[in-house]
Amino acid sequence: MNIESIMNELTIEEKASLCSGADFWHTKTIERMDIDPIMVSDGPHGLRKNVDLADNPNQAIEAVCFPAACASACSFDRGLLEELGKAIGKECQTEKLAVILGPGCNIKRSPLCGRNFEYFSEDPYLAGQLAAAHIKGVQSQGVGACIKHFAANNQETRRFSVSAEVSERALREIYLAPFEAVIKESKPWTVMCSYNRINGVHSSQNKWLLTDVLRDEWGFEGLVMSDWGAVDDRVEGIRAGLDLEMPSSMGKNDRLIVEAVERGELSVDELDRCTRRVLELIARAQEGARPDMVWDKKKDHELAARIASECIVLLKNEGDVLPLDKNKKIAFIGLFAKEPRYQGGGSSHINSKYIDSALDCSSDYVKVTYAQGYVTDSDRTDEALLSEAVENAKAADVAVIFAGLPDAFESEGFDRRHMKMPECQLRLIDEIAAVNKNTVVVLHNGAPIEMPFNDKVSGIVEAYLCGDGTGKAVCDVLFGKQNPCGKLAETFPKKLSDNPSYLNFPGFGDKVSYSEGIFVGYRYYEAKDIEPLYPFGYGLSYTTFEYSDLRLSHSELDESKTLSVEVTVTNTGKYDGKEIVELYVSDRESSVARPVKELKGFEKVFLKAGESKKVVFRLDSRAFAYYEPAIEDWFIEYGAYDILVGASSADIRLKDTVYVNSGKRLPVHFDLNSNLGDIRQLPEGARMLADLFSSTDATGGHDDDDENMKRVSEMMTNELPLRAVVSFSADPRFTREYMKSMIDKLNETLGEE
Ligand code: BGC
Repeated sequence: MNIESIMNELTIEEKASLCSGADFWHTKTIERMDIDPIMVSDGPHGLRKNVDLADNPNQAIEAVCFPAACASACSFDRGLLEELGKAIGKECQTEKLAVILGPGCNIKRSPLCGRNFEYFSEDPYLAGQLAAAHIKGVQSQGVGACIKHFAANNQETRRFSVSAEVSERALREIYLAPFEAVIKESKPWTVMCSYNRINGVHSSQNKWLLTDVLRDEWGFEGLVMSDWGAVDDRVEGIRAGLDLEMPSSMGKNDRLIVEAVERGELSVDELDRCTRRVLELIARAQEGARPDMVWDKKKDHELAARIASECIVLLKNEGDVLPLDKNKKIAFIGLFAKEPRYQGGGSSHINSKYIDSALDCSSDYVKVTYAQGYVTDSDRTDEALLSEAVENAKAADVAVIFAGLPDAFESEGFDRRHMKMPECQLRLIDEIAAVNKNTVVVLHNGAPIEMPFNDKVSGIVEAYLCGDGTGKAVCDVLFGKQNPCGKLAETFPKKLSDNPSYLNFPGFGDKVSYSEGIFVGYRYYEAKDIEPLYPFGYGLSYTTFEYSDLRLSHSELDESKTLSVEVTVTNTGKYDGKEIVELYVSDRESSVARPVKELKGFEKVFLKAGESKKVVFRLDSRAFAYYEPAIEDWFIEYGAYDILVGASSADIRLKDTVYVNSGKRLPVHFDLNSNLGDIRQLPEGARMLADLFSSTDATGGHDDDDENMKRVSEMMTNELPLRAVVSFSADPRFTREYMKSMIDKLNETLGEE
């Protein structure tokens, strides 16, 4: 495809028309120029390729549902996500899809967001790393991925109009950070802008977001498309860098573009930029096409089950109730054992060809008894089902209850109002735990729930929405074929009101204030010392791991160097298993508010029973930096940073310290209203004040020989502005003019650095 010669031939009308879809899933055809359409499709954890739009817009081909991001994130495994992406990429090739719409890497600000199941984490580093790995896998197959929803789309309530009112620091450190990592590390072919507004401006026409940050700062070279129906002002969107409107606007917005060009309000160059990117995407897809590719649905389904088994999180295992002993009588209870809830509702919904239920898969191990226990989609208890289940549990040595959230409780399109499970399921768990002390709960849910049963049962297995291989994966974990090796990618608070967004979710009217700032997820719970039900990064194994020999490559670091961190991990238990090793960085003392610690590295390592391995992390300067709005850049404050290595955010095993000096200082400017404390903070300022007060009692009149009194005197005067020293001091030298000349000199010295 010769893009430049096509661009020379296209009329303004044709250019405008290429900048929106032909229908729900295709780009436009321009026959006279031999421009063929390409097809895009949801995503993200399998194909939802629509076959016959005219007859039934929701009819999708039979496909494979891999674990949703809420589950796959718990693997903390870049390689696994890449494998998942690769399989999906192959499926896209076979189905002639150019771009798959996903993954989504929005941050889980509140556990209530209806789409949390499609997102990876509350932590931007983890979300960015895993989304990037997923995309590398997809794109290795010659098809494109589409990172979404850019940006600050953290709720479903009023998702088309709500304005996320959020500080630049929180945007940069929390909400944009995963996108930044994805763009830089995996170069996605496309980005999907979000529905919402950010600080008042629709993402679909936000030039700061779509061009200044995305392209100019991060170097994105692909295409930006709108979320489906996200366009407000199409002409403004072209200007901002929104290349493709999806789906079709039935030509209405294309006409507005043409009229704006004719009126001279939109330049041809601006339109050309977007059109060219659409053509580049089409060309890329054509070049990447592998027409002979075929996919084996059965094999991919088996892969989905294997991936699922690496994602499941063991939350509780009292008295080693798990793995299940095959010689015992085991009861499976709960409808989800037979009909697992393995995916969420909305645009990511897959028409699965194969579905494994735990009940079916249990026959690979033992014969279990089964009772349905409850009906889904309702809180109401069916008394007959309940008593049948209780009888089953009484007759068994171990009762395994399959519970969680039904479809009606969480989905794309709406947010939850609370974190509770259905009443009927809670009652079932209570009554069964009362008659069987070996009760295990297996959970299928897309986001955290309250667990009033936490102390009443012996085992809890968090399976999330683990794809259509869920049943097999769960059985492999329950019966010990697979040693559980997932850890939570989000905090489970004890109750909703503990969550940092509680007072401001989902906002009021068309605004939602992100007033918790950077304190999202564990960053908040730790800063407030709120004990969660289960902390970020937590998960048990059937074996145990010990950490030793933490070694840092440097004790002092400048910005150009990378810090290598080595640690030895030993499997000290009886089972082979995988451990996720987490690395956090903590700024010991900071002049701005910072979280207690932040995840900056993770590695998953397989260890045979008794085996030890060295795990290595590499940290670049960003690992120590925070976003400083005053310089519109990342900044590392000079000082000591703790390197914390552990098994979860709440289980730090080893610690060492590195001193980091970027050699940079924030620009400062003092005036007569600057207080003595701030001036004293800098060595030059402290010197100036010492000179100034050397022969006066202006700082409090104490005898400076007494070190203690000197400190007290400094503390008492720290809040004094320089101008007040003029008024309070009897020293005749201390006029406003004199002080001004001193402070000018100081500013000059600082500016010269
Ligand atoms: C969703 C997107 C999805 C698109 C196409 C929108 O409603 O927000 O995630 O890709 O529909 O189905």
